[in-house]
Order: sequence, then C-alpha cells, then structure tokens
Amino acid sequence: MSSQKTGAGTHGPVAGDPNREDAVRDMFDRLAPTYVRANSVLSMGVDKLWRKRGLAALGECIDGPMLDLCAGTMDLSIALWEAGCPEVVAYDFSPKMLEVGQARLPAGANVTARVGDAQDLPWKEPRFAGAIAAFGLRNVPDNRKALSELYRVLQPGGRAVILEFFQPIRLDARVFHGVFNKVVLPTVGGWISGDSQAYGYLADSMQAYLPRTEFQDIAQEVGFDLRMGRELLPPVASLVCLEKPQESL
Ligand SMILES: C[S@@+](CC[C@H](N)C(=O)[O-])C[C@H]1O[C@@H](n2cnc3c(N)ncnc32)[C@H](O)[C@@H]1O
Repeated sequence: MSSQKTGAGTHGPVAGDPNREDAVRDMFDRLAPTYVRANSVLSMGVDKLWRKRGLAALGECIDGPMLDLCAGTMDLSIALWEAGCPEVVAYDFSPKMLEVGQARLPAGANVTARVGDAQDLPWKEPRFAGAIAAFGLRNVPDNRKALSELYRVLQPGGRAVILEFFQPIRLDARVFHGVFNKVVLPTVGGWISGDSQAYGYLADSMQAYLPRTEFQDIAQEVGFDLRMGRELLPPVASLVCLEKPQESL
C-alpha cells in the first residue's frame, strides 16, 4: 500500500480534496511566469547539475523519440534536443508552464508540447525510446497509475529516468530538507513569485512524498527493472533509472 499523501500540509491544494488536481494545475499555471527564475535561485544552479545526471542516465535512448513527462517550462526538453535527441514530446497538464517552455525553445527544435495528465497518456502503442520525469511525479496523486502509463508507452529496452525529492530517510537529508522546506522554499519562492502559499504547498509535497525505496518497489511491481536508484548531492534530490525489459510485450 502506498504511503503517498502529497499535499497533506496546511498550504494550498489538499490531499483528499476531489478538486485537488485542478488546484495543483491552477497553481502551476500561476507560477509559470516566475518558475524558471525561482527555480534557479532556489537551487543555486544545482538543478542544472541534477538534470545533467538525469540525461546521462538515459544513455543511448536519447537517439530515439523521448518523452519529457511533467515537462513544465521544458528545461529537459531543451537539454534533450541540444544533446542530439531527434524528437521530444513535452507533456504536462499545465498549459501555462508549456507556453513558457515553448517561448524558450531554440529555433528549429523538434519539441512538441502536449497538454495532459501523467496518469492518462494519450498514446496507444509503445512510442518512446526513453522518458524523463523531473520533479513532477510527487504532485501526481496516483504514482502507480503514472508509472504503469509510462511503462506502456515505452519501447522494450527503453529507459525512464526520474529525478525527484523523495521523502528523506537519512538524518542529514531530513535536517537539510526540514530547513529548506520550512524556511527557504516558502520565503525565497514566495518572494520571487509573490505566491508564498504555492511554495508552501511545494514544501509540503516534498515532506509528504514516498521514500525512494517505496517508489522503486511500485515501479518494479508495474514491470520495470531497476537499473539505479541513488541520492544526488546536496542530499535533497534523488535519481531513479528504470528499464522496460527487452522481452516485454
Ligand atoms: C516542479 S514542476 C517541474 C517541471 C520540470 N520537469 C522541471 O524539471 O523544471 C512540476 C510539473 O509537473 C506538472 N504536473 C503536476 N502534476 C501533473 C499531472 N498529474 N500530469 C501532468 N503534469 C503534472 C506541473 O504542471 C509542473 O509543470
């Protein structure tokens, strides 16, 4: 049984609320204009390093069509294109985040924006050689459903790389998370975006998300092989690399 209870804090969208998904989407729509700036200030540029690690874990998959799941303002879609990927689909349920992303695309980039829910992907067949989901899945109410959908649209041998703020287990990570989430995120994020409530929600969503090992168990239950799962530095973000077995249907 999953312990995911994303949004179970005192700020913004609340777990169990039937309108929670709409509230989360509206929140990202509101944050879109300031998201890129807030992100790079809050992570002090470390997010670029994390994304680089994520791309490296995809290996040769980037020679085929790639799905950027919960693509937001498309940092990874752009990075995939610049790394030589021939085709990227940037998928996200916030039209405004994708709009900001589209305005950032280099000329001629074969990156298509598609609006939709990660729990219900629109492709019928295994369309993608690989996929990446960065800092989005903790907002998705049913991670098992999202992972099953991801599995379904990947080609056999395809990899899915997840970068995420899982619930910290180690003491140093818990302390780091606590200070960052309770103090830095709402204060600095609120100051840049003018929406401290939204950044309060994002802080709560990190505290309330699954531990990485539980996420990995669910991924394996839906059929993925686990290639790698580890914390990145500083000990806030983690990387999970999954693979759809070659012999899968
Ligand atoms: C924190 S942002 C991360 C964006 C981007 N991947 C990055 O690394 O900067 C999370 C993104 O997940 C999207 N998202 C949240 N829940 C979603 C869902 N159920 N389906 C699709 N996208 C979702 C949000 O709209 C938002 O753009």
